[in-house]
Amino acid sequence: MRISVTGCGYLGAVHAASMAKLGHDVVGIDVNPRIIDNLTAGRAPFYEPGLPELLSESQATGRLKFSTDMSEVVGCQVHFVCVGTPQRRGENAADLRYVNEAFQSLFDRVGPGEILVGKSTVPVGTASRMAEELALRVPGAVIAWNPEFLREGHAVADTLTPDRFVYGVPAGDAGQLAANTLDEVYAAALESGTRRLVTDYATAELVKSAANSFLATKISFINAMAEVCEAAGADVTELAEAIGMDERIGRKFLNAGLGFGGGCLPKDIRAFMARAGELGADQALTFLREVDAINMRRRSRVVEMAREVCGGSLIGRRITVLGTAFKPDSDDVRDSPALNVAAQLQLLGADVTVTDPQALPNSALRFPELAYEPDMDEALKNAQAVLLLTEWRQYRELDPYALAARVSEKNMVDARNVFDPAKWRAAGWTYRSVGRP
Ligand code: UDX
Repeated sequence: MRISVTGCGYLGAVHAASMAKLGHDVVGIDVNPRIIDNLTAGRAPFYEPGLPELLSESQATGRLKFSTDMSEVVGCQVHFVCVGTPQRRGENAADLRYVNEAFQSLFDRVGPGEILVGKSTVPVGTASRMAEELALRVPGAVIAWNPEFLREGHAVADTLTPDRFVYGVPAGDAGQLAANTLDEVYAAALESGTRRLVTDYATAELVKSAANSFLATKISFINAMAEVCEAAGADVTELAEAIGMDERIGRKFLNAGLGFGGGCLPKDIRAFMARAGELGADQALTFLREVDAINMRRRSRVVEMAREVCGGSLIGRRITVLGTAFKPDSDDVRDSPALNVAAQLQLLGADVTVTDPQALPNSALRFPELAYEPDMDEALKNAQAVLLLTEWRQYRELDPYALAARVSEKNMVDARNVFDPAKWRAAGWTYRSVGRP
């Protein structure tokens, strides 16, 4: 099929390359020439494992191209919209400017029988609003909403072999046409058994908000348990193992620590609360305010722990932070708990050096005041306290004895609960983690 993808960020770039790998003819469009230049040269504009290989493989087939020129979408049968929906400045609600712009420029260029497919995370009601306008502008064209559940760091696999497809479509023949078209686009994954649910627009939009809210709630639940464990002298990692053995609960997303961040969960739960308020259902989601508050409290708690291991004052203390990305295998620092803690420590008077395998350039753009050191050994030199804030594999494998030789004081705050406390203490470290004795 001939496919256009508008918006080539984390979602769209991976989607475009994946669709080409599935055998479709794809053009990816973005207004940012830097992104398009990189993608055209086969370079991923951000760190995502497997994406560079996927880009070169797909481009070699001649089925994948990128452009800043929106008129390239003309003649495509399916048009995916993958633009961002960031949080509005000073408000909880989502900023729909990019979604509106993308659809408006598609409305000027699509014809009858073509399908416009929203993948961006939007407030419920957006798809039907767009569909009403499209019906006036291009009768015979159809809108579908097909939310995306990919995780950064696993984006390629999550796009090529997702665990489910959700299609939000209108009633009647138009809906049938949209569902059939999406089935054709995703034929390979459907044949290998990926489940698919066809529903209305509002339900499809809500599936995404509900899924992210559930994940955020699960993380904040275990972090709340961590607070109680700390007060009671219990161990939250053992508690998570034990409750996770109940199939109804499940062990995944029960890692207590510094909490969630990134470009999705924090802003999506806030936008969901804002939208529920507009719909008169705000009471239903007041618990998400607590989920958000528990999550933000983790950051202050880790700053407090750093102060404690530094003997009560942060002023002038040399602190090394391992990891600034919002999670491992990503260079994304949007609402990164790790970068937030590093910045707070610096503002409180500590002398903070940060290191990260991929996220330093993005971190420096957001918070230039910190000292950035790409070499981990250099970053650790003379540290009076070390904070593990993003659990990259190379940090999880650190040896307390080897590390002891590099630092000037053996203080470790393990904010992701990845190390064995007994081993670190045996090596002479003052070791603190989250929700563990
Ligand atoms: C999330 C959803 O998982 C994905 O389905 C959706 O499409 C977009 O949002 P992503 O933002 O890539 O994906 O990150 P995710 O892997 O969900 O992690 C989010 C945050 O939660 C990270 O900061 C991570 O460190 C934190 N986390 C995750 C925990 O603190 N504990 C856990 O047990 C799991």
